[in-house]
Amino acid sequence: MARSDLLLSIVRAGVTGDQAALRSSVEAVVADERNKNHNVLADRLQRALNTVTVASPVRAVSSSHAGRDSILETEPRQRLEDLIVPLPVTHQIGQLIEEQHRADLLRAHGLQPRNRVLLSGPPGNGKTSIAEAIAEALAVQFFTVRYDALVGSYLGETNMRLARLFDYARTVPCVLFFDEFDSIGKERGDIHETGEIKRVVSFLLMQIDQLPSYVVTVAATNHAELLDRAVWRRFQLRLSLPRPSRDALAIFLDRQFAQWPEEPGMRPETVAMKLGSISYAEALELCQTIRRQHILSLGARNLRDILREQIDFWSTRVRIDEVDAKQTLSSS
Ligand SMILES: Nc1ncnc2c1ncn2[C@@H]1O[C@H](COP(=O)(O)OP(=O)(O)O)[C@@H](O)[C@H]1O
Ligand SMILES: [Mg+2]
Repeated sequence: MARSDLLLSIVRAGVTGDQAALRSSVEAVVADERNKNHNVLADRLQRALNTVTVASPVRAVSSSHAGRDSILETEPRQRLEDLIVPLPVTHQIGQLIEEQHRADLLRAHGLQPRNRVLLSGPPGNGKTSIAEAIAEALAVQFFTVRYDALVGSYLGETNMRLARLFDYARTVPCVLFFDEFDSIGKERGDIHETGEIKRVVSFLLMQIDQLPSYVVTVAATNHAELLDRAVWRRFQLRLSLPRPSRDALAIFLDRQFAQWPEEPGMRPETVAMKLGSISYAEALELCQTIRRQHILSLGARNLRDILREQIDFWSTRVRIDEVDAKQTLSSS
């Protein structure tokens, strides 16, 4: 990181008295030092920072590492290049990554890189994968929020755990991933009082707003329509990941077939047409099933026959929308 630019932005923020900019620039230095394992220096800077600004009461009582319980930490493996996503999505993710990579230059001009992304689309079309791929591209930690460990039954407990989670997340540059974001606020099982749910949601949104820009928040939802406008507005990038078009599916299948030891005996375009509406995850599963059967047959069957058979099976599968329709019928 170009330290000179960062120092310049700190000085500028100090001179103009821009508390928010000062805080986020110093936090960037803290995170940077922590990344380099310079923990003593990072701690000193953090303490200095805490004395300068008015810390919120929750912040003061919680130690940053307690928040680790409600986070699943994984090493990001997914690469952006391996995903097939609509061009505008690729471009916008690319811009976000560039802004993050060159954040010091932006900060030197009093600007922050964007760091809040909302991904929306039906299951199995790359929401989790994109979140992970952003972390991979930025070479930062990938944190997935665990709601099971977050939602508490006592008044205020959830907010306390949330505060700890955010305190922990801001100690290091990371991607903080909220899957099934629409489910937050509907978790009525443990939280009895509706006023409490509202408090949790607004506290969560406030925390997301206040995160330093080196923490990239990615929220995913299958039901963007269920989120209210106040939530939508929080996210600077709102990207849609639809099911693959027939062409996109053909490209995906072509890549899969290329890894097979034999010719599939059918053009990817033809297979794509036969499969119709399918998610990437389902298409992948189908290809893997074909490979499994092929391997287990120990050479007795060829891939083209297995592919044909599996396409037939696919056309007779139970569809989720049919199940939904039947359930609606039986319950009415
Ligand atoms: N756009 C895509 N391009 C290539 N592969 C994909 C894509 N979307 C999903 N996949 C495959 O399906 C798997 C599951 O996708 P995932 O990202 O978990 O979907 P979601 O989070 O939207 O339900 C991924 O690990 C990947 O192998
Ligand atoms: Mg997912």
